[in-house]
Amino acid sequence: MSDSILGKGIDRVDARAKVTGAAQYAAEIAVANLAHAAIVSSPASTGQLSAIDTRAVERLPGLLRVLSFQDAPRLPGAKLQSNPNDRILQLLQDDLILYADQPIALVVADSHECAEEAAQLLSPRIVSHTPSVELASEISRAYAPKTAGPHGPTDSRRGDPDSALQGAAVRVDQTYETPTQNHNPMEMHAVTVVWQGSEHVTIYDTSQGIFGVRKKIAALFGIPVDNVRVISRYVGGGFGCKGSPWSHVALAVMAARVVGRGVRLVLRRSQMFSLVGFRPRTVQRVVLGADRAGKLLGIRHELTSETSRFDEFLEPSAVQTRMLYACPNVATTHRLVRLDIPTPTFMRAPGESSGTFALESCMDELSYELKLDPLELRLRNYAERDEQEDKPWSSKSLRECYRVAASRFGWEKRSKTVRSMRAGNALVGFGMATATYPARQSAASARARLRKDGSVLVQAGSQDIGTGTYTIMAQIAADALGIPVERVTFELGDTTLPETPVSGGSQTAASTGSAVRRAALELRQKVVTLALSDPTSALHGMRVDEVEVVDGVLQSRARRDKKDSYSELMARAKEPEIEVELHTPEKPERARYSCHSFGAPFVEVRVDEELGEVRVTRVVAAYAAGKILNAKTARSQLMGGIVWGIGFALLERTVRDPRSGRVVTRDLADYHLPVNADVPEIDVVLVDEQDPYVNDVGAKGIGEIGITGVTAAIANAVYHATGRRVRSLPITPDKLL
Ligand code: MOS
Repeated sequence: MSDSILGKGIDRVDARAKVTGAAQYAAEIAVANLAHAAIVSSPASTGQLSAIDTRAVERLPGLLRVLSFQDAPRLPGAKLQSNPNDRILQLLQDDLILYADQPIALVVADSHECAEEAAQLLSPRIVSHTPSVELASEISRAYAPKTAGPHGPTDSRRGDPDSALQGAAVRVDQTYETPTQNHNPMEMHAVTVVWQGSEHVTIYDTSQGIFGVRKKIAALFGIPVDNVRVISRYVGGGFGCKGSPWSHVALAVMAARVVGRGVRLVLRRSQMFSLVGFRPRTVQRVVLGADRAGKLLGIRHELTSETSRFDEFLEPSAVQTRMLYACPNVATTHRLVRLDIPTPTFMRAPGESSGTFALESCMDELSYELKLDPLELRLRNYAERDEQEDKPWSSKSLRECYRVAASRFGWEKRSKTVRSMRAGNALVGFGMATATYPARQSAASARARLRKDGSVLVQAGSQDIGTGTYTIMAQIAADALGIPVERVTFELGDTTLPETPVSGGSQTAASTGSAVRRAALELRQKVVTLALSDPTSALHGMRVDEVEVVDGVLQSRARRDKKDSYSELMARAKEPEIEVELHTPEKPERARYSCHSFGAPFVEVRVDEELGEVRVTRVVAAYAAGKILNAKTARSQLMGGIVWGIGFALLERTVRDPRSGRVVTRDLADYHLPVNADVPEIDVVLVDEQDPYVNDVGAKGIGEIGITGVTAAIANAVYHATGRRVRSLPITPDKLL
């Protein structure tokens, strides 16, 4: 690979379209004769809907339809009460109420304003009972789900953790809690739907997984997948909530069919707290046992988290504990509690974000018990291989991350005792932790097409959720083709393009990137072969390996003056264009290795003791995540993750009213996110790492690792500053007073 394009921190290729407003989002797509839909939310969180009184809205000018369970079309693929699992969508198919703000009716009107007004005016009659929404009060009913989803079994055990922990000279046994949190992308969920007849539908969605939306809608409506086209060219943030289609997508599709017009549905910010998933609350017991020298002898990590009555989602917080440190005796368990709440979902680093808070806080506690530097404790337990999988790492540069970040941060200036560093009136604390996230890859397809003018169009279904997919795919293609990046146009966000996986799990660069690289390499090969067999080409008769491609010029390696070019070749060619489309499976070598990214955040906090206010004043974090494809977008991704870690540690918390089950923190005034004033200078260090096994582009993914570890690092810094160990997030002032 030439390093001239790959890795370079070029500006986003879609930046201009975004800042000029040329980039159209799902709620902005122009459709003739558009109608607007609004969801009526249930005020109760349990019970049965007996009727909806529509008298108040019947004479509203512009009202087209009110749909409820009484008259909504039956969807052939919808799951009902009789099927308690995978009932994740509530589509007006029955009268059951399962959580507060569940959709119970849909209003369709000529204008957005009319639809919203009508939705507020409808009075539902509901027979309900008191909900149970508190994890603590139901924890005795925790059960083991069948699996931890893509993370394998819910329970793991190696060695004999019970005896190891019993015999350990030093032991820490603590319970950590993380609150319910909600995704708050800038762009709210929105969808614009147009049917072509009654069998074909086009859905403009804001989605991390357009092929998943296509499949789900086709199944629900009983039509072939090819009849459903999903388009999502720009996404204003995803983070997991846009990873799968929620009720509003199917309801808009239903409404558009009923009224025979295009329909738009935009969720209100308040509805984002109930209708599109959330990170579930977790309670995590961590037990660590070590010898006096700080060698870990036993680890136990037990997670309990919340899910809905009718479906399962598990936050796999103990998964990283199976592999993060060298230890012969490790047990992990994951348990769920059913509550009268909506079903949770993936939220940025589901598992590792909440899980590293618990594990890495507990490691910090152990370091104080041992009177050992927290970084030194981690180095003494450095895992040279994945002991759970019993495999070598495909690559691991965590030691280098610790070293570089510690040195840039000035970790050696940390005092050994708590409450011993001050700046003016504030207590100062240093904290650190380990960050980790799996380096996933899924099969993907891509197409590359050389056009008459020598430019290349590259296409893959995929999504750019703000991460820079447009940009890095153009860079990967340009690098593989040997042409300037300006000569590449990359298209994505349409199910009529080659199929790719969901943009989740930090896998797009690895998956779609590998497919784009292979398609581009294959196209280059085709072009070179064409030149070699063309009697009018200066390269005629040479062997493929005698030719290189630089800046769009095909030239002999030995004699640079013997050359041809993409554009000249195409000008002479009979074909109007040359096209390659390839499916790229997961790299087979991966099976022999354990593939993960690692990192090390170091944090300084200042705590005002009288006010209990915590300020994060410095962050230095180093990451080794394989090949960095674009230094600029990579740094932004990691910085975004760290900012979220600050929110996780200090601010974010979804509160439900235990009487009604409703979320009371349902806007950005009550649900606190870090703003610029909360965020200090963040120094992100990208540690160079070559990984030949992980996938063809060598990138391990950076969308999620940034949020891991940093929350614990902040909590650890707060302890170092104040001597107060806060084990229940967020660390609000009341917990420090
Ligand atoms: Mo991410 S939670 O896999 O969108």
